[in-house]
Amino acid sequence: MEKKKGLDYSTLHKLDSPANRLIRKSIFGDNDIGQQSFITPWYLDELIRHMGISSNSRMLDIGSGVGGPAIYIADKTGCRLTGIDVSDVGIETGRKLASDAGLSKSVNFYLGDAMDIPFPDNSFDIAISINVMNVFEDKEGLFRQVIRVIKPKGLFTFLSGTFDMPDDPEIIKNMARGYLIRQYYDTVVGYKSKLKRAGFWILEVIEYVRDFRIQNKLWGDAYKKHYDEIVKEQGKENTDYHIIYFDTYLRLIDEGRAGNHLFIAQKPGK
Ligand SMILES: C[S@@+](CC[C@H](N)C(=O)[O-])C[C@H]1O[C@@H](n2cnc3c(N)ncnc32)[C@H](O)[C@@H]1O
Repeated sequence: MEKKKGLDYSTLHKLDSPANRLIRKSIFGDNDIGQQSFITPWYLDELIRHMGISSNSRMLDIGSGVGGPAIYIADKTGCRLTGIDVSDVGIETGRKLASDAGLSKSVNFYLGDAMDIPFPDNSFDIAISINVMNVFEDKEGLFRQVIRVIKPKGLFTFLSGTFDMPDDPEIIKNMARGYLIRQYYDTVVGYKSKLKRAGFWILEVIEYVRDFRIQNKLWGDAYKKHYDEIVKEQGKENTDYHIIYFDTYLRLIDEGRAGNHLFIAQKPGK
């Protein structure tokens, strides 16, 4: 497979650099499960509860990153889980983490593009995706892939930042620094209509804004607290960009223009 399809998350996947370790310690502390996102184990417990995930569930995790969330869910529930991601570093790390956790038999990671999911129709009971939607330009196309590979009555849930971006070039520029560019983000209404057009029934949409604000602020604070160490590794320009990005994101959350939603949808069936 061609490397580097979609957005390039290779820096984000560098879990083990000194600066990244400092950032992660500030943000996640004891809740570091190898997530490459705003989530904490609390979100995953919510997800397990809402989706009724059990040892009978066969699951797909779209954009599994380095596999931390997938392994957490499989470990807690005993489900069988396949992660798919375009990042070779992510896939290799996920396989190693699954083996370290003694879960190589029930959790596997597959290098592939979610826009062209390489699994047969009706393969999974549940598909999840955590903080990944903002990388897909053709969300309806992605949803059509997902509905194909889950069984009738199967569930699809994704957690995603949602945006109602103001028409302000400065804000748009600041958010683009964090990969949030117009063709990649969407509003709650946009997500709902694309899910429906792809054939899903929407069961529930839940907003998790309070915890999301806390996580977002922790990211910005970590960059400020460890500024010198991060500059040494990532350069001043990149570090300053991140700080501006997180500050702008926080402002959008406070203005009600940026949210964090869990969408739960079902493939129709008898
Ligand atoms: C913000 S990270 C989230 C990772 C993981 N879900 C987590 O919460 O730790 C987004 C992930 O989406 C992956 N990604 C980007 N484009 C993709 C695509 N077309 N198909 C599958 N994964 C993709 C990236 O490589 C990255 O691992």
